[in-house]
Amino acid sequence: VSKAGDDMRTLWYDDSIQKLKIIDQTRLPHDFRILVVDTLEQACEAIVHMRVRGAPLIGITAAFGVHLALKNDPGALSQACAALAKTRPTAVNLQWALSRLADGLVSVPEPQRASAALEMASTMLAEDAAACSAIGEVGLALLQKILSAKVERGGEPVINVLTHCNAGWLATGGWGTALAPIYKAHQAGVSVHVWVDETRPRNQGASLTAWELAQSGVPHTLIVDNAGGHLMQHGMVDVCLVGSDRTTAKGDVCNKIGTYLKALAAFDNQIPFYVALPTSTIDFELNNGVREIPIEERAADEVSHVSGLDDAGVLRKVAVAPPGTRVSNFGFDVTPARLVSGLITEKGVFPATTQGLLDIKSWL
Ligand code: MRU
Repeated sequence: VSKAGDDMRTLWYDDSIQKLKIIDQTRLPHDFRILVVDTLEQACEAIVHMRVRGAPLIGITAAFGVHLALKNDPGALSQACAALAKTRPTAVNLQWALSRLADGLVSVPEPQRASAALEMASTMLAEDAAACSAIGEVGLALLQKILSAKVERGGEPVINVLTHCNAGWLATGGWGTALAPIYKAHQAGVSVHVWVDETRPRNQGASLTAWELAQSGVPHTLIVDNAGGHLMQHGMVDVCLVGSDRTTAKGDVCNKIGTYLKALAAFDNQIPFYVALPTSTIDFELNNGVREIPIEERAADEVSHVSGLDDAGVLRKVAVAPPGTRVSNFGFDVTPARLVSGLITEKGVFPATTQGLLDIKSWL
């Protein structure tokens, strides 16, 4: 495994065997395993069990899933799209990718559909990596501005960024969304340090973000989810930077559960709170994110149990709650637009307002 950059992929199509390959994210950071995905069922399973996860990556995987289904049965376009659409409810990139595939393939004669789907999926993968790289450049300029202002005020010449969940290259076609500006800053010699929220219940921060940042040598510190407010009160956070799974036409941002509480603490401490996202994550059909975005509810054992390596190096899942405890496990929450300082997209930073979103739409 090497550093973040154009060559980093969580998922790729291996031409030599004509199959899809993915990094199994459920095994990280303790075990690096590559899985072959060769059927629609395997693609669905990989999304449902979060072997691949993160909004952009879910969409890209679904696109390759359509190809795999058509390779087996060229007449299965609508069944494949329907099966993939049911895998996870919140990230809009899934619907976005499937509609793009369905619209593009419906007029293609059946014998050519599988190869056309493969081409579309590969384009989507490349486009997402390019969008994330552009997000990185836009975000880098923003981080530099925030750091210069801090230094002018007499602060230390290091920018402390707090992030939640994993919005790095593992979650996208490459580079990441929230982590892209951090990687670009690190590569440009800007002194950056990242506070990594562990992100219970599945710990994507502890197991994925910390792993990714370590691969690239980016200084970072893992914190419990409840620490952010304290750090903000003590001037230890200069900016919050998170990803999104669905952002509405008025700028409400849905992201991994706990993001909203970070935004509230940032607001109370006058700390900028930015969201990095490719335009495939915007749902222009919805307005009020709190009321309208479907929030995934996941299995109880994600909360009642934790997994990790024991001292003997064995991967174990252990209970942290009494047996039979009732559990609630909402996967995402919505940060109202008024708490968002700006949306970092591949085309620039836009306000999280209806006008800002209309401006984004105008160049799509
Ligand atoms: O449940 P997940 O891991 O698929 O959640 C998605 C996320 O990683 C985050 O919410 C992320 O910030 C948005 S995707 C770049």
